[in-house]
Amino acid sequence: MIVVAGATGHVGSEVVAQLAAAGEPVRALTRRPDAWQGPDVEVSRDDLSGARAAFLMSSEPVAPGGTPTRLAELVARALDAGVGHLVLLSVFSGPEGADVIGRWNAAREALVVDSGVPWTLLRPGRFFSNALAWARSVPDGGPAPVGFARRAAAGIDPADVAAVAVRALGGDLVGAAPRLTGPESLTPLDELRLLGEVLGRPLPARELGPDDVARGMVAGGTAPEVVDAILARTLGSDEGVDPLPTVRELLGREPRRFVDWARAHADAFGAVPS
Ligand SMILES: NC(=O)c1ccc[n+]([C@@H]2O[C@H](COP(=O)([O-])OP(=O)(O)OC[C@H]3O[C@@H](n4cnc5c(N)ncnc54)[C@H](OP(=O)(O)O)[C@@H]3O)[C@@H](O)[C@H]2O)c1
Repeated sequence: MIVVAGATGHVGSEVVAQLAAAGEPVRALTRRPDAWQGPDVEVSRDDLSGARAAFLMSSEPVAPGGTPTRLAELVARALDAGVGHLVLLSVFSGPEGADVIGRWNAAREALVVDSGVPWTLLRPGRFFSNALAWARSVPDGGPAPVGFARRAAAGIDPADVAAVAVRALGGDLVGAAPRLTGPESLTPLDELRLLGEVLGRPLPARELGPDDVARGMVAGGTAPEVVDAILARTLGSDEGVDPLPTVRELLGREPRRFVDWARAHADAFGAVPS
């Protein structure tokens, strides 16, 4: 039995689907088990009993001065249940940086590494699924709001992050912390153009300046200290810009391209399945 946290999310849903397709017994964790619409697997809020391995993630926002309580709870439950391998979805930069984000991610990774349980840390770059932020404007033909519009990154398909997680959950990559990217470096404006090519029409963009992005994040509840750190990291470094060979090395195939993701998710942008 493998337990998957965040099982309705971009990465977790793919982990569940890939494990279930391989015939592996799976328990999916979600805050709303009644609303489960995924494959026919066990579903629970937080039961890790009987699991030989667990995929751990938590979407709790970075809290200045706080600690990652949801992840701490999951690790404690895994310890109680005697889970044999913890695979954590972390971030590209891992624990790097003395800012609030570095401290938070260091605390998250330490919860797993210091647990005494064999571990794997996955450190992916920007997710292609961030483009779903345009799913409201694109179907109506309105301009898509594009933040950090010209900041390139070697983004990754969450399905590829999941594929590496599945390999680890099979008992591999113990003690490893691979950085994972897609095959090419694209700006958000490149991604919008490629999405337009998939949908068969050009998509207008409304570029957001750093101040617009910051105002939006603060309005959405992100702490100002965290917003400052995000801006400094995104605009003041080349973190995650260059494609890495890790996904190819780990999976024995090329990582999926943004257009592959866009084709697979075209319905989210109003495309009628052909
Ligand atoms: N986006 C990126 O570019 C990127 C890049 C690298 C790393 N990451 C990391 O990847 C993780 C996110 O992965 P993901 O995109 O697969 O997750 P996700 O889809 O955003 O969320 C996963 C699940 O978490 C639950 N959830 C959502 N918001 C929550 C909240 N406020 N409190 C508690 N639970 C909540 C939801 O499940 P239920 O409602 O079913 O409980 C959701 O389906 C984060 O740790 C992030 O730092 C992201």
